[in-house]
Amino acid sequence: MEPYRSRVVEPIRVTTRAEREEYIRAAGYNPFLLAAEQVMIDLVTDSGTSALSVAQWAAMHGSDESFTGSRSFEKFQEVARELFGHRHVIPTHQGRAAEHLLAQAVLRPGDVVLANTLFATTRQNFEEAGATCRDLPIREALVRGSDHPFKGNIDLKALEAELAAAGERARLVVLTVTDNSRGGQPVALANIRSASELCRRQRVPLWLDAARVAENSFLNTLRAPECAGMTARQVARETFALVDGLFMSMKKDGLGNVGGVMALDDDTWAEAIRHRLLVSEGIPSAGGLAGRDLECMRVALDEMFDADHLAYRIEATAALGQELEQAGVPVLTPFGAHAVYIDGRAFCPHLPDEQLPAWSLSVALYLESGVRGWETGNVMMGRLDPATGQWRWPELDLLRLAIPRRVYSQSHLAYVARAVGELFERRSEVRGLRFVYRPPALPQFIARFEPVGGG
Ligand code: F0G
Repeated sequence: MEPYRSRVVEPIRVTTRAEREEYIRAAGYNPFLLAAEQVMIDLVTDSGTSALSVAQWAAMHGSDESFTGSRSFEKFQEVARELFGHRHVIPTHQGRAAEHLLAQAVLRPGDVVLANTLFATTRQNFEEAGATCRDLPIREALVRGSDHPFKGNIDLKALEAELAAAGERARLVVLTVTDNSRGGQPVALANIRSASELCRRQRVPLWLDAARVAENSFLNTLRAPECAGMTARQVARETFALVDGLFMSMKKDGLGNVGGVMALDDDTWAEAIRHRLLVSEGIPSAGGLAGRDLECMRVALDEMFDADHLAYRIEATAALGQELEQAGVPVLTPFGAHAVYIDGRAFCPHLPDEQLPAWSLSVALYLESGVRGWETGNVMMGRLDPATGQWRWPELDLLRLAIPRRVYSQSHLAYVARAVGELFERRSEVRGLRFVYRPPALPQFIARFEPVGGG
């Protein structure tokens, strides 16, 4: 059962298929451009969409909104230092602000950044600073049905080789936990430890994209023998001790509607980051946030490790995944924590890559049921090779159904499972789409499409 009860509710407007056809056409067949009230169950993201707890609201009411040196920052800093174990704690308004500050403060043209997989905004920020970014996932991460328990791991052999090849140009290694862009798969504590040893040997800082570190840590307690009997918080503390710094969107595991944080020990880097922060974000004790946001984040740093919350979340996500699996839907396994991913190419074998299978599936699912997901596939990661004029498509073309925290009940998820299952029965009817407008960066948010063959 859900380990919480609802005290405030938000009505869901039930729409008809005819209405949804109208809405999606007006949105250029881009679910991101729908008005939220046109969506019945919104699984587009687990970011910034959590329901806040009584404790969070209570803390927010007691905030200190002083311009500088506010009590809310002091309290946040104390809790964050204790958890992360790093001296400098720098709040930011969300995850990508932290990525931007880090990139601007420490990356220079020609630098090399290595990662398990960088999230899209992280990669964009790093590349705009002139760095070359290389994702080094393990081979199993690219195989939908592989049952490797830690498909988020970085390929240690590849990391060693790339570190050696890059030499002085290797500036940073980042582990994204969990690996959102490749199925929300966890990274093993042992993998983080080995990466940390390699980085120390080469004197390259290892950082964490800690957006979903609580879920990553909890999955370690379930799947890594060395973590059996540990709490998620203990695993997280060990994780933080292995890295030189971290940036974290506080909108995911951090149970906030806004917010981010960085933690590190290096004084020179911290000073450079704070300088950039002052220019573009706000003062170092606020990072562009209100005192009440800092209060909300402080409470969440504790709440996100609650064992009942994490156990429920993992089980609810797996239950949705298993229902889909039983209906024959090609899903990515093992199931992670924040989302279930459907393989667009396997769901729509009649659609070639140019017709964007996972994206087309997301539109068909919306029409079928009013459920909105997020494609992490051909639209988000496909690249037009300027040399050949050919498209390069990602290994996996996925539709992500992300589950906001503490928002939807199991009956909502059962509705989603039924809708996807019914659509799968009629999968040959999913119509292909093609680009009408494709912006050069982060296309998923503003691109527009049309059905192939008109309509
Ligand atoms: N890192 C990861 C792993 C993320 O998933 C995200 C955002 C960010 C960084 C950027 O953080 O949104 O606070 O600026 N992911 C969202 C998602 C948008 O839906 O997965 P942000």
